[in-house]
Amino acid sequence: MGFTNSVTGYGIVTKTLHWLVVLGFVNQYVIAKIMTSIEGNEFALGFSQGSLYNWHKSIGLVILTIVVIRYTWRKTTRLPDWSAGLADWEKKLIHWYERMLYWAMFLMPLSGYLFVESGGFGVQFFGVTRLPTFLPRNETLAWLGHTIHIITGYAIVVFLTLHIGLVIKHQIWDKDRVLQRMLPFSKQ
Ligand code: HEM
Ligand code: HEM
Repeated sequence: MGFTNSVTGYGIVTKTLHWLVVLGFVNQYVIAKIMTSIEGNEFALGFSQGSLYNWHKSIGLVILTIVVIRYTWRKTTRLPDWSAGLADWEKKLIHWYERMLYWAMFLMPLSGYLFVESGGFGVQFFGVTRLPTFLPRNETLAWLGHTIHIITGYAIVVFLTLHIGLVIKHQIWDKDRVLQRMLPFSKQ
């Protein structure tokens, strides 16, 4: 496996960026679920609701940076050819949901950031330093950010169900090793 993508497969950079974002998103959903359902006092391992919020916001901004790099990488390097076993309707579906996933990867952190900035909450970056505030307090913008954050959060579940569903279909049903195309250290 090379550094960059080749005609036949993804390179290590694409794979690393793909799985870093997956890890980041899993973390975000788990933390969001916990932080929005507990009360202010100690949660576990020294975390309080406040520190979980900070963790969620800080990791979210790190994910945004990774997504910018990932999108730039995708736009400036070649993609491998389609996996041979894909039907035309599957290619159209993939085309559509990959575009939606990229939109969602940007919208999720940006809307969260808009919400906390215009809501006057700010970001205590990893509990170390308070990030400068760029936006004045604005109830409408805060509402907009919050609403986009929640709606996009649900939309991602739909896109990922299609994405993971198709991978599982090819793995189990068509047996054409699509998953191996994205796994690190796998021969395709
Ligand atoms: C990068 C990926 C991100 C993902 C996948 C994500 C996901 C989520 C989810 C699923 C929720 C729960 C929404 C609900 O109540 O149903 C949530 C809540 C929240 N997120 Fe994010 N988030 C991300 C980034 C950010 C960022 C960058 C910030 C701020 C800088 C942020 C701030 C918040 C806040 C403040 C809440 C709580 C909203 C409330 O109390 O109702 N998020 N996030
Ligand atoms: C946050 C969750 C995920 C996002 C945002 C995501 C997004 C994407 C995107 C945009 C691509 C196209 C290549 C690229 O631009 O990097 C891709 C490819 C791929 N993903 Fe995911 N993915 C996620 C989770 C998963 C999971 C959990 C699996 C495993 C079941 C998976 C398996 C694959 C495979 C096998 C490919 C290569 C498909 C091919 O071109 O043959 N993804 N993913």
